[in-house]
Amino acid sequence: MIRANNIAELFDFIKKNRKLNNLTLNISKKGIIQTNQQGKADILIKNNSIVFNVKIDPILRQSCEIILPLIRKKDRNFIGQIGQSLDAKIALNNGNSHYINEKESITYLHCLRSISDGVLVGVNTIIKDNPLLTTRKIKGQNPTRLIIDPSLKLTNKYKIFKDKNTNIVFTTSNKTKNLNNTTIVKLPKKDFTLGVYQFLKKSSLKYILIEGGPTTLSHFIEQNLINYMQFIISPTLIGSGINSVKLKPITNLKKAIRRKSNFAKLGKEIIATLDFNS
Ligand SMILES: NC(=O)c1ccc[n+]([C@@H]2O[C@H](COP(=O)([O-])OP(=O)(O)OC[C@H]3O[C@@H](n4cnc5c(N)ncnc54)[C@H](OP(=O)(O)O)[C@@H]3O)[C@@H](O)[C@H]2O)c1
Repeated sequence: MIRANNIAELFDFIKKNRKLNNLTLNISKKGIIQTNQQGKADILIKNNSIVFNVKIDPILRQSCEIILPLIRKKDRNFIGQIGQSLDAKIALNNGNSHYINEKESITYLHCLRSISDGVLVGVNTIIKDNPLLTTRKIKGQNPTRLIIDPSLKLTNKYKIFKDKNTNIVFTTSNKTKNLNNTTIVKLPKKDFTLGVYQFLKKSSLKYILIEGGPTTLSHFIEQNLINYMQFIISPTLIGSGINSVKLKPITNLKKAIRRKSNFAKLGKEIIATLDFNS
């Protein structure tokens, strides 16, 4: 069985060796080691597919199978994700959102975070959920937290300012504020989303996970500043509530976003991926 620290090492290894094909990996007491001994490998990575010859938790195996193809193609990637019901709701109208998805999806999300250098959210997600945005479920390396906060509403009371991980806050505000472990980046109001994107493209952070909420994701989708969009779909009907994306209305279905798609099962849920590179 691959232990939690091994799976974290596996994701870390994949993250550092994205461009290498046909890898054979063995698991020793020290962790995961690369080997050339064909046929004896515990894990085989061939182009975009992964084969496990060792026991692995089924959710972690499915997570590896879904994530690997996303990260092998490009040097840099912006991956969006949102957890939703079958009828595309992320919360009820009263804001209650705990929990639409199964706990397996949280493990999956932590796997996604572990291959990311940065995790981007909008300010409302910090205010409403007070998340940590770490990879604690699989013990991987924590990504830099990136927060879009145009009017600089955030204060040090939120959890992200109370641990040792680093944050970057993007704003258009002229306020001066001291947020713990945080670099504040001021950008022009005009083309703000593009400004955030360009800043990140020039940075050392190569893989960015856009975790939500719907407003933040929709800005990136509408401006085509995303490589993949993943919907983690729970087989649940909610009926009314907050939509997972809120794009500007269109008048002709020819203008609907249609991209190459992939559907994979993760436990009881479905992960639908739209490939914006296509
Ligand atoms: N189901 C999931 O997977 C998931 C994931 C994350 C969050 N959520 C949920 O999503 C909800 C919050 O969603 P939300 O859509 O209200 O908020 P959000 O995307 O977290 O934050 C939106 C706010 O961030 C700022 N912002 C973000 N991107 C911007 C851009 N490109 N340009 C200008 N401003 C930008 C704006 O702040 P100002 O208003 O200050 O200008 C905007 O109102 C929470 O309830 C959370 O639980 C769900």
